[in-house]
Amino acid sequence: MTSIDHAGTFTLGSRTVKRLGYGAMQLAGPGVFGPPKDRDAALAVLRETAALGIDHIDTSDFYGPHVTNQLIREALHPYADSLTLVTKIGAKRGSDASWQPAYSPAELTSAVHDNLRNLGRDVLDVVNLRIMFSVHGPSEGSIAEQVDTLAELQKQGLVRHIGLSNVTPTQVAQARTQVEIVCVQNMYNLANRHDDALIDTLAADGIAYVPFFPLGGFSPLQSDALSDVARQLDATPMQVALAWLLQRSPNLLLIPGTSSVAHLRENLKAATLTLPSEAVGKLDAIAG
Ligand SMILES: NC(=O)c1ccc[n+]([C@@H]2O[C@H](COP(=O)([O-])OP(=O)(O)OC[C@H]3O[C@@H](n4cnc5c(N)ncnc54)[C@H](OP(=O)(O)O)[C@@H]3O)[C@@H](O)[C@H]2O)c1
Repeated sequence: MTSIDHAGTFTLGSRTVKRLGYGAMQLAGPGVFGPPKDRDAALAVLRETAALGIDHIDTSDFYGPHVTNQLIREALHPYADSLTLVTKIGAKRGSDASWQPAYSPAELTSAVHDNLRNLGRDVLDVVNLRIMFSVHGPSEGSIAEQVDTLAELQKQGLVRHIGLSNVTPTQVAQARTQVEIVCVQNMYNLANRHDDALIDTLAADGIAYVPFFPLGGFSPLQSDALSDVARQLDATPMQVALAWLLQRSPNLLLIPGTSSVAHLRENLKAATLTLPSEAVGKLDAIAG
């Protein structure tokens, strides 16, 4: 039993994964564009995820583009049967590193094939449809056509399970009338709690919620209350931020990102950190 086993497991469709996983986005170059600053260090982080018992890695072929998937393949292929790789489609990168929608049936289909090729898989475990109506947050609008395209790729056997990312509760509800949705990946952390009600709805239906930017993203969370609680518990602020997410709801699957083996090891220790109710109260107050 490794330390992350203490955090328990949850399901992603037919797959069962540990609640502490890893997000690979930070392995690409600056701005999630181009090769990593230190390729060997990036490969070392991925190999360490396996050594520490991680069985859930979040990625996309638009990280780099292609870079993180190719690193994952180089570091971890042939993959352990227990490893669930979750990817996302719906965006592409401009030559200036910009993020652009890529939603047509042809673009979604070619994105699935890019992920299959670069990861070295015959079928993708979970594919999240990343909605790009606004890059910065969920925005209303029909996603029915894109969900249909993904459902067709699932019927063809290229995609095992379907998830959604950067979506509103209305879009989730609509998509669930079309196809089984196994996870929702939106921004959520101690300081950004817009999805509290959605998390509870999904929990009641056994659907995973996977917060992106669990540590605050490119500028990690900073708060006096967080630092105080960490000091009292002899933990780091990042460990406390992850432990808070773990206690928030059993359907939360965590994918903290890092390009550092030391940070990876530090973050996974959150699995063994228990937050007293007084600490949870202080942390709950951060989002106001
Ligand atoms: N669906 C979407 O639209 C979407 C958007 C964004 C991200 N994601 C996914 O979500 C995953 C997680 O998000 P994220 O990686 O952007 O943000 P994050 O996990 O909230 O934070 C990552 C940042 O925190 C730093 N960090 C990590 N551990 C640390 C520690 N122990 N001490 C100090 N700093 C630490 C990292 O720097 P170091 O590298 O120096 O550790 C990096 O700058 C991504 O990897 C990606 O797979 C999805």
